[in-house]
Amino acid sequence: MGVRNQEAPINVKFMHRTLSVASSPVRDLLALTSRPEVISFAGGLPAPELFDLDGVRAAYDLALRDRAVLQYAPTEGDPALRDLVSARLTGRGLPTSDVLITTGSQQALALVATAMLGPGAVVAVEEPTYLAALQCFQMTGARIVPVASDADGLVPSSLRSVVAAENPGLLYLVPTFGNPTGRTLSAARRAEIAEIAAAHDLWIVEDDPYGELRYRGSAVPPLASMSDRTIYLGSFSKIGAPGMRLGWLRAPADLLRTLTIVKQAADLHTSTVDQAAAAVYLANNDLDAHISRLCAEYGARRDAMLAALPATMPAGTTWSDPDGGMFVWLRLPGDADSAVLLKDALQHDVAFVPGAAFFATTPDHATLRLSFTANTVEEIGEGMARLAKVLL
Ligand SMILES: Cc1ncc(COP(=O)(O)O)c(C=O)c1O
Repeated sequence: MGVRNQEAPINVKFMHRTLSVASSPVRDLLALTSRPEVISFAGGLPAPELFDLDGVRAAYDLALRDRAVLQYAPTEGDPALRDLVSARLTGRGLPTSDVLITTGSQQALALVATAMLGPGAVVAVEEPTYLAALQCFQMTGARIVPVASDADGLVPSSLRSVVAAENPGLLYLVPTFGNPTGRTLSAARRAEIAEIAAAHDLWIVEDDPYGELRYRGSAVPPLASMSDRTIYLGSFSKIGAPGMRLGWLRAPADLLRTLTIVKQAADLHTSTVDQAAAAVYLANNDLDAHISRLCAEYGARRDAMLAALPATMPAGTTWSDPDGGMFVWLRLPGDADSAVLLKDALQHDVAFVPGAAFFATTPDHATLRLSFTANTVEEIGEGMARLAKVLL
């Protein structure tokens, strides 16, 4: 039995579409970032030394005093966790009566894609955007159309043009400290986008795993608080621990019911024990205080990376100036190709993500993403010095 060539499309009798799973050369290169000597600015990873290991261990210990946490459970999720998450969202200015607990917000994206997209559907996405959302949408056979963004996030006039030309049913965006740009959509633009959505029967997917990681300035109201045509996705991954794979989805009641049925078909429910531990953790710990500690450290790491950029990047490079989140987005001058530069960078034991994969249609090869959260200030200094050797 041979191993299937990864470049070959999967063809199954009666399958209505073809999934072509290309092995990306960049993915192969990034596999090399796990060498211990590499300082990686590539992954969007939280800092492991900041995980509240003792708090999480104690929460599992308490949760496991009840045998029921090892049993099957309702698809909607643990009632205590749903209440606690709803109360947190309400406290942050998004009145919420219920949520669906998902296996990370990635699953919420897959559920939305399954329920709302398919061949013939059109989904508009902020460009550039989170590449695993693009993958999710591509797999449904829907057509993806890009909407331009700038330093203030998605550009409403570009959305108007896309709506007029393509009539999308869904708009996906990461409006607060976006992946990959780190940028935040202004409050005025949020209001305008909510208006466009209402006028054109457009559903909005507001993906918000980073919103609580703010290092300066004040919070901008969630799009979901301005438009009831919004599906809001949250996650424990960046403020807690991604290994627990816990996310939540807030949507109008009818849609929440539909998405619950789709989830039932996908995995019956999210891990009972992980949900129970998260509920105990939220009830017994001050998550806000933990997030404040994360923000103090990540803010210092952000500052260290931004301070090093002028001496690291060639003249003419531009970059975003994120108020929070995990990422700085850069564009090199001229016709630079960041995927080629990554090869050199890896020889100097430093890594980043080339930007092309974050584009739905026409990639800009001169772009790249740097993440500042998973390395200490000292490691960032050393990593940026290595990058300077490659780029200058
Ligand atoms: C914008 C965005 N959405 C969703 C996810 C998925 O997060 P998780 O499934 O861990 O909640 C990520 C992870 O990096 C992300 O950046």
